[in-house]
Amino acid sequence: MRFLALRTATIAVAVVATGMAAVPAAVASTQPDGSPALARTHDGERSLRDLARGRLAIGTAVGMDALDKDPAYRRLVGGQFSAVTPENVMKWEVVEPTRDTYDWSQGDQLVDFARANHQQVRGHTLVWHSQLPEWLTEGTFTNDELRTILKKHVTDQATHFRGRIWQWDVVNEAFNEDGTMRDTLWLRQLGPGYVADAFRWAHRADPKATLFYNDYTIEGLNPKSDAAYAMVRQLRSEGVPIGGIGLQAHLGTQYEFPTGYVQNLQRFADLGVKISVTEADVRMPLPVDATKLQVQSDAFTDLLRGCLAVRACTDFTMWGFTDKYSWIPGVFPGQGSAHPLDELYQPKPAWDALKIVLADDHQDRPGLVWADSRGGVS
Ligand code: XIL
Repeated sequence: MRFLALRTATIAVAVVATGMAAVPAAVASTQPDGSPALARTHDGERSLRDLARGRLAIGTAVGMDALDKDPAYRRLVGGQFSAVTPENVMKWEVVEPTRDTYDWSQGDQLVDFARANHQQVRGHTLVWHSQLPEWLTEGTFTNDELRTILKKHVTDQATHFRGRIWQWDVVNEAFNEDGTMRDTLWLRQLGPGYVADAFRWAHRADPKATLFYNDYTIEGLNPKSDAAYAMVRQLRSEGVPIGGIGLQAHLGTQYEFPTGYVQNLQRFADLGVKISVTEADVRMPLPVDATKLQVQSDAFTDLLRGCLAVRACTDFTMWGFTDKYSWIPGVFPGQGSAHPLDELYQPKPAWDALKIVLADDHQDRPGLVWADSRGGVS
């Protein structure tokens, strides 16, 4: 692995330079609420959000069950991050399980939590082919009916959360790896114009939110990111209100880091759109070992550094931060350990690396429209 030796040296130097203590073993004690002690990373050190303040938002996807039941998780979400994304509760199957009956309760709960903790919210997601309610996937609709259904969904959801969402993932995962459009019910029945329509409907309902196209494997230069780039350029030239590109960044230690990542960010920036890393994680084939953890740490480092290097990249969101609650083992059997904290909330090299990158990067980035005004360490 190309960057392994180099990076280890860099981190060692940076640890000294930033005055961070070496990593002690976990402290065996409990918090007043009975949850395990969070060890040295989380108490008495600057949080990720504090280190990133004024330069970019640091976000995480949030699972509502964990937020509800696990005080340690709750404390970390509120204390370490300046942006949150609902992992599932703004998806269509959750918000409209029965036709015309909305349930916004869990989405509202997250928005309230975010407000209480001075966090931005990324809305995820309005138009996708996955996690749709059965009444929709099993139903038979004419093309006109389906268009009306999609328009109502986008409009009602964006209206419900109007003014409370920083960035909306309006359309999610519309491309195949070869750059052709994914065969979904939307493409089949509505044609490719559904993308522009969705952005226009969302903008009408919530003019202040920045509207994103979001996808995976579009981090580097490849046929899929070329297609996303061409689409964003085309939509912008037609005056469609797309304001951002979301790079999911689901990486793996067994794959090369995406080729041309920074050039890719830059070409999107040159189109005048914001960039967000929206779902960063770096999975690995199990079992875990020190080499894989270092490769993971390097990948997180490169992802964050690239974002910091391009001014238009104003958000770095991870798809969860602890292996305790991870979507990876269920979707990629035999893989896991994808997040910077382990199941016991103990830091892996990646957690320290993220902090080092943030502490290292003194580049002033004035003029960002959002502000993380919260002070102190949590
Ligand atoms: C995943 C969630 O993490 C899981 O809990 C759920 O079962 C499936 O979806 N790309 C996306 C996210 O845009 O919405 C997906 O989230 C992960 C891949």
